[in-house]
Amino acid sequence: MSQAELPRLTVIGTGYLGATHAICMASLGYDVVGLDVDDRKIQKLQSGEVPFFEPGLPELLAKTLESGRLRFTTSYAEAAEHGDVHFICVGTPQKPGLDACDLSYVEAAVRGLAPHLTRRCLVAGKSTVPVGTASHLLGLLRELAPAGEEVELAWNPEFLREGFAVDDTLRPDRLVFGVVSDWARERLTAAFRPILDLGTPTVVTDLATAELVKMAANSFLATKISYINAMAEVCEATGADVRDLAQALAYDDRIGGRFLQPGLGFGGGCLPKDIRAFAHRAEEIGVGQAVSFLREVDAINRRRRSRTIDLVRELLGGRLDGARIACLGAAFKPNSDDIRDAPALDVARTMHGLGATVRVYDPAALDNARRAYPELRYGTSAMDVSRDADVVVLLTEWAEFRQIEPTVLAQVVRRTRIVDGRHALDADVWRSAGWEYRALGRP
Ligand code: UDX
Repeated sequence: MSQAELPRLTVIGTGYLGATHAICMASLGYDVVGLDVDDRKIQKLQSGEVPFFEPGLPELLAKTLESGRLRFTTSYAEAAEHGDVHFICVGTPQKPGLDACDLSYVEAAVRGLAPHLTRRCLVAGKSTVPVGTASHLLGLLRELAPAGEEVELAWNPEFLREGFAVDDTLRPDRLVFGVVSDWARERLTAAFRPILDLGTPTVVTDLATAELVKMAANSFLATKISYINAMAEVCEATGADVRDLAQALAYDDRIGGRFLQPGLGFGGGCLPKDIRAFAHRAEEIGVGQAVSFLREVDAINRRRRSRTIDLVRELLGGRLDGARIACLGAAFKPNSDDIRDAPALDVARTMHGLGATVRVYDPAALDNARRAYPELRYGTSAMDVSRDADVVVLLTEWAEFRQIEPTVLAQVVRRTRIVDGRHALDADVWRSAGWEYRALGRP
């Protein structure tokens, strides 16, 4: 397919998902316009700055801006004029205090774009939404767009992981096209040509299935993590070792070792809110029982946070108040500056609330953490926050924490006691260096 035949793309919403998608598609040769209602975000991107931490993305942004194939706007009219395929990539956060997800951004994106759609085009939703959303949006589009029935809707869920977003976008495990016509399928095929040419497996299905795939995938991943963490609870009660248990399970190809890492559990902007939204939606449509186990998956995951604090308390002889605690990590996982529902910060804040003096260090998420939780103290390195600590707690498994020399850290702390919340350290090495070492689910 020549350059001239490639559909022109727009990406509505330039947050994590949208910015990555826009930049990656431009790098593949598409002519892309990214739209956001946040003017500051657009200015940053247009000047070559990625507003979040993602390895490889700033370099790719610089390259694609220079190629002239990527630009950013806040104007829906401009986006509508440009695009043959419009990707909706706005957020669907959890509603405050509720399990349901907030669809107002998706709805606003469709309401913003539709009145400017005067010719045949495809709107492709990428945001994670409860099943049934797409058919509602299709009705809305056709009602509001001057082009009416000429406008089609498809659903094309995204599975990118933070920290691997570029690779997951350019070389995904699979593509899912939820479509209602051959024309929509052909448009999506043209919009992903270079990725399909790599032999990427593709599932073409209806809208509802495409919406559900994302929820089902994230629920499965969350369940797998909570499964091994449930085993950790059993190990704790019996003196067994969950690490050896996980290793033995992983040798079974049917089970596999990925997402079987026990510890402090999952957080971030996706897994926690997605399982809640899924359970909520299932209840709404009368099949709540089918996924009621997701409530338990959530509960197991939340218990990991309080159990980690229990380990700290045990090391301190029963009391947290007055103790000096060093927290290594704030991001919800390594190689990310994202602190949304971060288990690390949840633990740090709770210990602070219980009267401990908590100092936090993270290689990338410090600015975000400081802004969100000014009540905590922050330091400039693992060594810095560990100075005079009564306990060190590893909460996010950054590579630089794995590389810490126990004998070197021992020189700055008040007491050589460590809780390894992510099973990231070699217990034998730390113990033989004189540390009291504790980890969830291990003797
Ligand atoms: C996830 C999905 O993986 C991705 O496909 C989807 O599109 C968005 O949600 P992400 O939120 O970036 O991606 O993080 P992921 O790498 O999946 O990790 C999620 C959480 O699970 C992290 O807090 C991580 O620390 C935790 N985790 C992961 C475990 O506790 N144990 C594991 O074995 C794996």
